[in-house]
Amino acid sequence: MDSQPEVRILINRQEIEAAVSRLAAEISQDYHDKYPLLIDILKGSFMFMADLIRHLDFPLEVDFIGLSSYGKGKQTSGKVKVAHDISTPIKGREVLVIEDIVDTGLTTAFLLDYLQKKKPASLKLCSLTDKSSRRQVPVTIDYLGFTVPNKFLVGYGLDLNQKFRNLPDICFIEDED
Ligand code: PRP
Repeated sequence: MDSQPEVRILINRQEIEAAVSRLAAEISQDYHDKYPLLIDILKGSFMFMADLIRHLDFPLEVDFIGLSSYGKGKQTSGKVKVAHDISTPIKGREVLVIEDIVDTGLTTAFLLDYLQKKKPASLKLCSLTDKSSRRQVPVTIDYLGFTVPNKFLVGYGLDLNQKFRNLPDICFIEDED
């Protein structure tokens, strides 16, 4: 086993729950009569999506897309690939993308462009966190939970080398030096 890096809480589970409730209220106001399709970006957003839709008390559909932009470790490769595509036709649908974090913006910019080409009626983005100081390409986040500092985040779906996704709080890895 590798030695475990030190992990500290940045946003605790109560703060996450409050943000999820607030976002759900905003989304409900805008989408309650639109039968939207919520598209979850795997893997990091699975926990946020699961918690969010439990607060949405109106008809909706969900689908999942697997994208990958990061290699092993903490550095982005800068390349985005579709690893697992949606199975729902989205032409004419009201589509809301659910993301856990917008960092450089490369992943979401790629996805929004990819989906826009399929001609949805509308296309918006909900992200639990925004590491805006790292942005390389502009991305509009329509529903945002938290702006976060430039730290490597894990927990609540976020990983380091696939580990730590199960932590119930959003945490950061202490710098090793
Ligand atoms: C993470 C995160 C976002 C993306 C954000 O996913 O879940 O999708 O990176 O980074 P960006 O704004 O710099 O593109 P990752 O590719 O690590 O895959 P995962 O969700 O499976 O962990």
